[in-house]
Amino acid sequence: MKKITVIGTGYVGLVSGSGLADFGNYVTCVDMNGKRIKSLSSGHIPFFEPGLTEIVERNMAADRLYFSTDVIGAILEADVIFIAVWTPMDSDGSADLSAIKDVSKTIGENIKSYTLIATKSTVPIGTGEIINSIISEHAPQSTIFDVVSNPEFLREGSAVRDFLFPDRVIIGTDSDQAIEIMREIYRPLFLNETPFIFTDIPTAETIKYASNAFLAVKVSYINELANLCDATGADIHVVARAMGLDGRISPKFLHPGPGFGGSCFPKDTRALIHSAETEGVELKVVKAAADANEVQIDVIIKKLEQLTGNSLNDERVAVLGLAFKANTDDIRESRAVVMVDYLLSREAEVAVYDPAAMSNMKQLYPDLDYAESVESAVRGASAVLVMTDWNEFRGMDLAHIGELMDKKVIVDAKNLLSREQLAENGFAFEGVGRPYNG
Ligand code: UGA
Repeated sequence: MKKITVIGTGYVGLVSGSGLADFGNYVTCVDMNGKRIKSLSSGHIPFFEPGLTEIVERNMAADRLYFSTDVIGAILEADVIFIAVWTPMDSDGSADLSAIKDVSKTIGENIKSYTLIATKSTVPIGTGEIINSIISEHAPQSTIFDVVSNPEFLREGSAVRDFLFPDRVIIGTDSDQAIEIMREIYRPLFLNETPFIFTDIPTAETIKYASNAFLAVKVSYINELANLCDATGADIHVVARAMGLDGRISPKFLHPGPGFGGSCFPKDTRALIHSAETEGVELKVVKAAADANEVQIDVIIKKLEQLTGNSLNDERVAVLGLAFKANTDDIRESRAVVMVDYLLSREAEVAVYDPAAMSNMKQLYPDLDYAESVESAVRGASAVLVMTDWNEFRGMDLAHIGELMDKKVIVDAKNLLSREQLAENGFAFEGVGRPYNG
């Protein structure tokens, strides 16, 4: 079994590290953040991700998963090093590679025998080449390492499952030795016939961005079509379902809403546009998807303004859902946060509730009214906004919600609620692309 070191214990590093340990490898996850490593070593996961605690505990108990701050020691003992550090967005939309470059230098300065270096972080096309040249510059001999691009396709909220049962695994390298090693560490997937794509590094790097950007295009497409349905009286859910029955289209990622958020789509679409521009290529479709996403929230705001007669000043407005999607506590680029900013700018009294993301939100906005339940958030509210597709919101008792509210106004930005029940209970309401015809 291979000894693997994963550098970076963020979302990608932690899920990949514990998943690789579950495949039977010996994995050390390293991070310079001593506090984080200490709490991980005692089994505490620093963010909400279903199933992650279990897989970490299981592999720690089996002595296959360790946590350490000793980056150099972990580099020295590794057969394979996965780079899973952060690549934040720079002010010009490009990806900031400084952490990747620092790690590459440290690896180059410390490897002593053949080591495989695999990139898990989402990086611009051409980064594999940069990593290669930094390590070569610092390594004792250029022959003792290979670089592989092995992008991840993990969705927050189902990342553990996505790692253990992926649709495909991408291995980008020009080394046969590296291919053999990657096959070995992913052996259980190889045996269960998960599709593997072996290709070169730039192609692997492109696959990652191309996949995320395509999904972003799908979301923006269905959002714009939903806006059209609002104008024409058609029902976007029926349209999406019927479209999806065409095998070439597929029904997935055709749920309309307030726009996509999270740490990936907004950043990755911008980074792809930027890196194409530097090559003299204009990605008009991806650009349009990113631009459409910027303004989709305005559609929701307009609905709220219409239903409330545009009087939000000093009115209590309840925002249900803060996370950028259900089953995560992540509020990065969340449309709900954009909505809260808008409500504050209109001097509304903002009450919020989310099953998982409240403490992250509190760090950024300490002064909102943080309610302990849906009921306490909506009590006395003049309007409710449903911003995240948590299951808890689907089953709300609308009759009771209506009794608690001051004025019965709901904007359901994720189309979770029954239009019939909303109407029966006397609500003025709006969804996205689903006019009420009853
Ligand atoms: C995304 C990709 O789905 C993963 O394959 C990829 O590995 C990951 O980015 C990454 O690059 O690390 P994630 O950001 O966790 O995963 O979330 P998604 O489930 O893709 O959702 C992204 C956004 O699109 C969310 O705001 C979600 O609410 C929105 N969305 C998604 C819609 O509005 N409608 C849909 O039909 C689907």
